Amino acid sequence: MAVIPVELAGRSYEVRVGPALLGTLAAQCGPLLRKARVPIVTDSTVARHWRGAVETSLREAGHDPRFLVLDPGEGAKSWETLARTVDWLLAEEVERGDHILALGGGVIGDLTGFAAAILKRGCGFIQLPTTLLAQVDSSVGGKTAINTPAGKNLVGAFHQPALVLADLDALGTLPVREMRAGYAEVIKYGILGDAVFFAWCEQNGPNVFAGDRAAQDHAVTASVKAKARIVAEDERETTGARALLNLGHTFGHALEAETGFSDRLLHGEAVALGMVLAAFYSARRGLMAEAEAERVKRAIAAAGLPNDLATLGLDCDGATLAAHMLHDKKMDAGTLPFVLLRGIGDAFLDRAVSLDDVAAFLDEQLR
Ligand code: NAD
Ligand code: GLY
Repeated sequence: MAVIPVELAGRSYEVRVGPALLGTLAAQCGPLLRKARVPIVTDSTVARHWRGAVETSLREAGHDPRFLVLDPGEGAKSWETLARTVDWLLAEEVERGDHILALGGGVIGDLTGFAAAILKRGCGFIQLPTTLLAQVDSSVGGKTAINTPAGKNLVGAFHQPALVLADLDALGTLPVREMRAGYAEVIKYGILGDAVFFAWCEQNGPNVFAGDRAAQDHAVTASVKAKARIVAEDERETTGARALLNLGHTFGHALEAETGFSDRLLHGEAVALGMVLAAFYSARRGLMAEAEAERVKRAIAAAGLPNDLATLGLDCDGATLAAHMLHDKKMDAGTLPFVLLRGIGDAFLDRAVSLDDVAAFLDEQLR
């Protein structure tokens, strides 16, 4: 098992990565579970695969696990489900010093973390991420949120978990499309800040979703280390370091908006194509060699992820896509910071990108 500390003054915690963590949950959590009753929020798909292991471990340690099982999908990040979750936690008499368990992907983690942030002005929670995306990204760093009709993740809080247990066994039940979508966030760490890790991804990417345990272990551990370092440096995304994690997200957001935030394009798939676009836009601006952008594209293609805007079948022009970017939550005093590349492993934030120029670039890419 790898243990990666997230160093935050007064709120440091560990991310543990390894096998059989859900099956040994009670021992892993130790004194964080201070009462018999343990509240667990999950969704019905995750419950089908992983409720048994969690329940057995907790019962054997003398606990009384209580489950709130929600419908799977992004729809759970809503005011209605937040209210239902908070009411359920109150009925379960959760106190501020207790820890709520979030068992699932990024949806369950974001929702449960936000419920924990506002319940009794903030109680503890533990992330038990079961998707690759949640293990390498959303469970680490304390961003919690729900969606509103105005957009995704517009209501939320920074609220750090007390512990993250990334059980690699959970990846064994994950559909391959979800694995690939999560892998986009893995390769992102290489493209934005670690050329050596990117080269490892080029060699080993397909093994990660082919079930190679050593490859999965390295991919998750290296990603969590990268994220922990960035979060420790810039917890609240104020200095620009954490904003680099948005590589591919501004282009990706426009693609998600154009496809209606639907199953047509999963978030990780949009980020994958978004990173290819960020790389080629950087090359077009003369910031890095076109050959480097081609390398990014090849690595994304080898992972079976979308990598060519022209073949996505969108019926729109570049200006329409650029207009979606104006509703991006990263808009800051009228400007939209873009994460661009000087090379693989060398991302930076450009706050002076012209959206007209981006629209012209997207027109070229759509052809
Ligand atoms: P998700 O939570 O919807 O999970 C994807 C699907 O996989 C769901 O149907 C789920 O039921 C199923 N599933 C989960 N674990 C499984 C397992 N082990 N076996 C079988 N099926 C399983 O989606 P996600 O991709 O994990 O997360 C996406 C969410 O994360 C979005 O809402 C996004 O906004 C958020 N996010 C948050 C952050 C952050 O920093 N907080 C970062 C990135 C993404
Ligand atoms: N997923 C981006 C961040 O945590 O900042």
